[in-house]
Amino acid sequence: ETVDWDAADTGKSGYDHYMLKEIHEQPTALRQCLRGRVDELEGDISLESLADLEQSGPVQFVACGTSYHAALYGAALCREHGVRATASIASEYTTDRVPVDEDTLVVGVTQSGETADTLRALREASRAGGRTLAVTNTVGSSITRVCDHALYIRAGPEIGVAATKTFASQQLALTLLAASLSNTSSHREIESLRAVPDQVQTVLDTSQAKAIAEEFVNADAFFFIGRGLAYPVALEGALKFKEITYEHAEGFAAGELKHGPLALVTKDTPVFAIVTGDGKRARKTISNIKEVEARDAPVIVVTDGESEAERYADHVLEIPATDERGATVLANVQLQLVSYWVANLLGRSIDKPRNLAKSVTVE
Ligand code: G6P
Repeated sequence: ETVDWDAADTGKSGYDHYMLKEIHEQPTALRQCLRGRVDELEGDISLESLADLEQSGPVQFVACGTSYHAALYGAALCREHGVRATASIASEYTTDRVPVDEDTLVVGVTQSGETADTLRALREASRAGGRTLAVTNTVGSSITRVCDHALYIRAGPEIGVAATKTFASQQLALTLLAASLSNTSSHREIESLRAVPDQVQTVLDTSQAKAIAEEFVNADAFFFIGRGLAYPVALEGALKFKEITYEHAEGFAAGELKHGPLALVTKDTPVFAIVTGDGKRARKTISNIKEVEARDAPVIVVTDGESEAERYADHVLEIPATDERGATVLANVQLQLVSYWVANLLGRSIDKPRNLAKSVTVE
């Protein structure tokens, strides 16, 4: 099933920017992404277009920009489900000579379906004998003609150049894909997936992101850290921030901070740390938070309150408690809002940032 839409039918619906409107459309977008694909009673996930895809070989995700962060996320999820998976930047994939054979599934993640680097990578993979799957928002886009299969994320039209709801929908669609490729969905997993749209709504209704933006708008630089599934979300938090605020922002794997980036940390560089659950990842990220605190950096934790992270934070951006998959979708929404409000306070051109295009059709 696909969702038909017409760009001419969309306005800003009272929001100042398409970006803010699209951030607020995420609960609906995510419900559309899940519709008809999850069966709580059976504990089953069915992806219409992939019914005949039996995959036992390795999976290679290929993408650019925000979609590359979704690709990293998808690959990490697959590995957690026991599926061998990697993620590559499309423009690197084509020069790296990544080995592909008929057992390899190459997944092009591209919301527009028109990104030249991604298209080239998928064409090459297909020529090398690989099986190909497009994960896209756009029915009939070029990528769907290049690939053997297509999985639609069903986010609806996205006008803002900075990808927001398409990233959230990619996260959810790739969660479904990982579970489906490994045939390992549980009732509990499906229940928490189902809860994500309402929990995103809760974040939108209660977020303190605007107050955080007001406090830190004049900072020197902005850092984002996370581990596990929160690592690609930290990268995405920083990319969104750069794209629309034009301020210096970097995302790091939390454990990598001490291997160099810590040299940049001062009292004028707020650090946004994503901490979900109360397991090993949370405990380790808390140690990394202590490292930046010792350098007097303000720490903003994005957390579900399950760990003790709040004790080490100057500020908290709260998300509802759920599993790590859902939590990293929710954490990303908080970071989208921080970027939006900082860009807004700085008077940036939010929907059309300088030098950027919605989709890049040259290599
Ligand atoms: C452009 C956009 C980014 C986007 C990237 C990939 O650079 O400015 O926001 O993430 O293309 O786009 P795609 O359509 O392939 O997801």
